[in-house]
Amino acid sequence: MSKLFVGLFITLCICASSSSASDTYGVGIWNNGTNVNVGLVNYSRAAPTILKVVIQQFNFIGDASQISTYNYNTKQLTLVANIINTSQFFLITIDCNTWTIVSKSPISQNVNYYGLESDYSTNGTLFAPTTYGDGLIYMNILDPLSLAVRGTFDYFPGSVKGSVYDPVNQLYYICYTLATNANIRCRQYNSSYSLVQEKQLNVTNSNFQVIASPISLIYNPTTKTITCYLQMMNQYPTPSISYYFTLFDFENSVFNVIQQNHIYGTIVSTASDMNGLRLSYSVEYFNGQYQLWVVDTRFSTLLTRFALNTALLSIF
Ligand SMILES: *[C@@H]1O[C@H](CO)[C@@H](O)[C@H](O)[C@H]1NC(C)=O
Ligand SMILES: *[C@@H]1O[C@H](CO)[C@@H](O)[C@H](O)[C@H]1NC(C)=O
Ligand SMILES: *[C@@H]1O[C@H](CO)[C@@H](O)[C@H](O)[C@H]1NC(C)=O
Ligand SMILES: *[C@@H]1O[C@H](CO)[C@@H](O)[C@H](O)[C@H]1NC(C)=O
Ligand SMILES: *[C@@H]1O[C@H](CO)[C@@H](O)[C@H](O)[C@H]1NC(C)=O
Ligand SMILES: *[C@@H]1O[C@H](CO)[C@@H](O)[C@H](O)[C@H]1NC(C)=O
Repeated sequence: MSKLFVGLFITLCICASSSSASDTYGVGIWNNGTNVNVGLVNYSRAAPTILKVVIQQFNFIGDASQISTYNYNTKQLTLVANIINTSQFFLITIDCNTWTIVSKSPISQNVNYYGLESDYSTNGTLFAPTTYGDGLIYMNILDPLSLAVRGTFDYFPGSVKGSVYDPVNQLYYICYTLATNANIRCRQYNSSYSLVQEKQLNVTNSNFQVIASPISLIYNPTTKTITCYLQMMNQYPTPSISYYFTLFDFENSVFNVIQQNHIYGTIVSTASDMNGLRLSYSVEYFNGQYQLWVVDTRFSTLLTRFALNTALLSIF
């Protein structure tokens, strides 16, 4: 209780001190029934979204499989969306400097992208784990502008759970499960796209059963840490499933559940603060409502939340 109070107090101070210099806002994706909307999201309060780009007659199915990514350097947003009421999917890149659609490329019927991740570089490498229906994950690199495949640096069996790039150490991680068990395995690649290590990561500080759902990996540039959400089954007092904010500690081969704080609804999308705060923002869908959670990434503390009046499906 007192912890929550301290947390709220810290959030208020952070908001008050940062509102003048750098706004805590980011880029978001939502649907309006006939179009995909892209615009600005305010993370400091429950403010209306600011619509910037309309992708006419398209639908965004949601970011559970990480089918969108944002390059904070070039401000290019790449997403997968389908023509409304059809299964024709496209890769689409939007330039968020000029708020224009710069590229749109159809995706073949049996091709699926999971765990899209930008490397944040100015030349904009796009990691695009791809499946073609043969049970393998192909580690493709896409050109964010032409959306053409530049190359494939690895392939292996599995089902993608998330992917993240660490721009300081220039390391890329992909996490996946094998059909035969729910343990999460992760591969680490260096900037020459060489596999450095592959490990199974076990959970510490919790003995709940992990559910092999997408884990929403994000990198926070202030704390220089990678965090994620693990969906786990708590047996007491009654069986219930919720998301636990977790430190991704590849070095020590663990997902570290620092706090027992948890979120009951569905984690729709998660973003790191890019204005020097050690915060992460998460959209949760619960009981027909979208809410934004603010989490202290260092202590995994859920600081505050507010109701969103836009059904945000992806945030950056
Ligand atoms: C969606 O947005 C378009 C304009 O971008 C508007 O014409 C249309 O009425 C909106 N649809 C709904 C259901 O709000
Ligand atoms: C976000 O909200 C803050 C605090 O109310 C406000 O100062 C700022 O102008 C808003 N930014 C945007 C982009 O709406
Ligand atoms: C898509 O399907 C909905 C529900 O069936 C329908 O109301 C709408 O008119 C359809 N839109 C298009 C563009 O076909
Ligand atoms: C992309 O840019 C980064 C620095 O931003 C550089 O290290 C890397 O070699 C470049 N890659 C290519 C393929 O040009
Ligand atoms: C990546 O790993 C490969 C294989 O170990 C090595 O040859 C290469 O120099 C490494 N690249 C970087 C940038 O560390
Ligand atoms: C992770 O758990 C597996 C199965 O319980 C065990 O074999 C393995 O040694 C553990 N790994 C670490 C790093 O503790």
